[in-house]
Amino acid sequence: MASLVVEGAVLLGRQTKNQLPRILGAVYISKRNVSIEPASMKRGTGGRSSFSGIVATVFGASGFVGRYVCNRLGKIGSQVIIPYRADPYEVERLRLVGDLGQVLFFPFNLKDEESIATAMKYSNVVVNLIGREWETKNFNFTDVHVEGAQRIARIARESGVEKLVHFSSLNASPTPQHIYSKAGSKFLRSKYEGELAVREEFPGAIIFRPADIYGSEDTFLRYYANFWRRARSTSIPLWKKGEATIKQPVFVGDVAEGVIQAIKNPDAVGKTFEIVGPEQYYLSDLVDYFYRVMRFRKMKRTRISPLFLRTTNIKHI
Ligand SMILES: NC(=O)c1ccc[n+]([C@@H]2O[C@H](COP(=O)([O-])OP(=O)(O)OC[C@H]3O[C@@H](n4cnc5c(N)ncnc54)[C@H](OP(=O)(O)O)[C@@H]3O)[C@@H](O)[C@H]2O)c1
Repeated sequence: MASLVVEGAVLLGRQTKNQLPRILGAVYISKRNVSIEPASMKRGTGGRSSFSGIVATVFGASGFVGRYVCNRLGKIGSQVIIPYRADPYEVERLRLVGDLGQVLFFPFNLKDEESIATAMKYSNVVVNLIGREWETKNFNFTDVHVEGAQRIARIARESGVEKLVHFSSLNASPTPQHIYSKAGSKFLRSKYEGELAVREEFPGAIIFRPADIYGSEDTFLRYYANFWRRARSTSIPLWKKGEATIKQPVFVGDVAEGVIQAIKNPDAVGKTFEIVGPEQYYLSDLVDYFYRVMRFRKMKRTRISPLFLRTTNIKHI
């Protein structure tokens, strides 16, 4: 929170017209007064127009979970800083999550330390939701999940941030189960290495390991409903026809509420939470259910063929 402090003013006594300076008053401004903690400035009854004492920078706010986390933060009267990397119009709609003037946007680059530091300069909470399920020529898994996460954690510690919530993934492991490639999932290994890097820089970080998250505009239901994933609407290829995969999906609203609770609860500091839903399902049952609801009654689950593997990047995840 901006806290510029007016420490003095030049008072004008009785002066003749000629003696009057051109400027009738002057102030000098000291640098940020660190003794003013946003948490001590709580105001109101806890609604959108209150101030919760939370000034949160949310990295990855433009993504699926980010929208819900920002919404919950805004609803309890927090100031939300949203660093973005793409077109500002992509994140502009997030302005409505909070009260007037409480949602601020800032362009940043994950490899640019200065922009990261500026984005969290006045924040007491940082949420890192940055993640990608595929590699690009600009950012591989290590760049995003390990080095990017470590950079954010280090700068958060150096800036005096009190709470860091970092998003990893359920099943993140140094030795992920071998399914398609001999080495196992690169995505899950990089998420695990990211957790270690974040803990090293910010020991009190709160790490979330969510299962598949569902909700409006998710990537879980839509993944199975996708036209191309349905292999042109007669069959859907799944590992062992989905009969050996167990899913425990969690609702996105519950994940966002979990973030708020983790920020507020002092016992959460330094802990890792596995975020799962209340029920376990076989993927085969879930997919059959999705297609029943979508009225694709003739859809068949098939085994994954080498051709399907070659044409997708599924082996990395
Ligand atoms: N959704 C799930 O089911 C699920 C399950 C397990 C774990 N998680 C983890 O939870 C977190 C949030 O998930 P989500 O579903 O909200 O993901 P998402 O919709 O894919 O959003 C990812 C966010 O990360 C940002 N991002 C990705 N690469 C970046 C880079 N190189 N530089 C800067 N920003 C970058 C994206 O920005 P742009 O919009 O600019 O691309 C976006 O804001 C992720 O870490 C994810 O791995 C999610």
